[in-house]
Amino acid sequence: MNATPEIIQGGQYNIGHICTRMQCDRGLGDKVAMRWLGAHGERADYTFGDLERQSSRFANVVGDLGVAPGEVFFIFLPKMPEVFFAFLGGLKARAITGTLFANFGEEALLDRLGDAGCKAILTRQSYLKKFQRIRDKLPTLKHILLVDAEKDLAPDVLSYPRLMAAASERFETALTPPETPSVLHYTSGSTGKPKGALHHHRSVLHQSRTAAEVLDLKPDDRYWCTADQGWVTGTSYGIIGPWSLGVTQLHFGGAYDAEKWFRLLQDERVSVWYTAPTALRMLMREDPALFGRFDLSGVRHIFSVGEPLNPEVISWGRKVLGHDIYDTWWQTETGGILITNRPGLEIRPGSMGRPLPWIEAAIVADDGTVLPDGEHGNLCLKPGWDSMFISYFHHEDVYRQKFRHGWYLTGDTAYRDADGYYWFQGRSDDVINTSGHLVSPFEVESALLEVAGIAEAGVIGASDDLLWEKVVAFVALRPGAAWGPELELKARIHVSNRVSTVATPQEFRVLENIPKTKSGKIMRRVLKARYTGGSVGDVSTLDFQDGANKEQP
Ligand code: PRX
Repeated sequence: MNATPEIIQGGQYNIGHICTRMQCDRGLGDKVAMRWLGAHGERADYTFGDLERQSSRFANVVGDLGVAPGEVFFIFLPKMPEVFFAFLGGLKARAITGTLFANFGEEALLDRLGDAGCKAILTRQSYLKKFQRIRDKLPTLKHILLVDAEKDLAPDVLSYPRLMAAASERFETALTPPETPSVLHYTSGSTGKPKGALHHHRSVLHQSRTAAEVLDLKPDDRYWCTADQGWVTGTSYGIIGPWSLGVTQLHFGGAYDAEKWFRLLQDERVSVWYTAPTALRMLMREDPALFGRFDLSGVRHIFSVGEPLNPEVISWGRKVLGHDIYDTWWQTETGGILITNRPGLEIRPGSMGRPLPWIEAAIVADDGTVLPDGEHGNLCLKPGWDSMFISYFHHEDVYRQKFRHGWYLTGDTAYRDADGYYWFQGRSDDVINTSGHLVSPFEVESALLEVAGIAEAGVIGASDDLLWEKVVAFVALRPGAAWGPELELKARIHVSNRVSTVATPQEFRVLENIPKTKSGKIMRRVLKARYTGGSVGDVSTLDFQDGANKEQP
């Protein structure tokens, strides 16, 4: 369904092929596919021909290492050109190709690589220590490839430059049917370990179509997507969508820096910019004089994703940048944009916009009743769009639970107004959305329990002006342990090393004990009420006595 048939030639759905070889066959071999701008001023242009050759080399490397189609290969690197070559090469070789946010700590890596049964990974020397500590728990991991090692370091720790130099730059991508598994992204839930949302090559139809019809990408555009390739936005719209259309992308390897970003928008004549609300809110806090110094007349559209886009950001965009900012709603599981404010549609500030014409959305009650306009409920989608995830890898049971009464349950709550616009209300689970990163309270709690002195932990998201939500940890201490700056720092560093920097609690509160149900489940709702001073609601199933969990000074 919903096919964009012109990108499918001879039944070839392979994403790696479509983004590289097919663009060369269309006569775009010499066109710049990626202008790479490093953090320290480095610049390099890669044409579609370069992408084709580099990704083909890597596809040969993957095959030579014995990673068979359907086996899992991961990339664990910050944004750098090799990420793009390896991603497309892995897909050409029909490996299930996953990307991991480079800030992940060792526990986060172990959970994801172990669950996926990863066979090979591309990383760099400075991250090797993380792998060495978890290596014996990863029996399927056969090869670690290092982008920055000139020589192999061990029989299973190999030099990427050496392998690439030895590999042929020709690779005939085997015909890849649409339902062939493709990209794997792990996403956090509020209970249990993170789950791997598995996609298939057919997703390119939706990613390509939305890149054209929502992001409005045209052949001469210069497009910049700020997302890291470790997250789904970075692959669906920082690789696949734009390159399937032969569009030139800018990729910047540096971190947020208002001045550098504006210089990039100006000097590189960026015409379409896809970014995130936290970044826009950070820009809003900058000295307004900064913006006057740059000419952004090349910018045609600005889009945002990942968190609610506040109406104030939209008015700031109009006033200071002279542009509307279009909100787009989607998820790792949806693989592409489904609900959006988009060029040509009147923006309702604060609303995510309307579903795409070929997407059926609804607000559904827990019993499956479709609710009328204005009523709050579960945001649901009719399954079947091309980029819908095909499984939670190795967790088919959890996947099935996401579908009820003929709907896919997104886990978000929302309402629809009389004109069909959707208004985000929150999550129906405890997942924390901090600066567009989903953080599992469970993962943070588990890490905190490993800190000497901490007996119990309960983690919540609390609203934050900049980050949308911040991570707040409630802890109960072991007898004899005392809370102070030293233990707090230890706890922060531990979460950062084990899970990731984005999961590190911004704030700690110490309690005598953590409220739990009789079956031992942490009552995060009680912690939230305690944090905000709101009402706790029904606590009849809790095993703690009121007053027994007083906050400690
Ligand atoms: O809660 C919604 C929020 O981010 C979740 C999806 O996160 P993830 O799978 O990491 O994918 C993020 C990038 C596609 C959603 O369930 N979210 C995403 N976009 C919006 C949003 N919340 C409000 N408004 C949005 N535009």
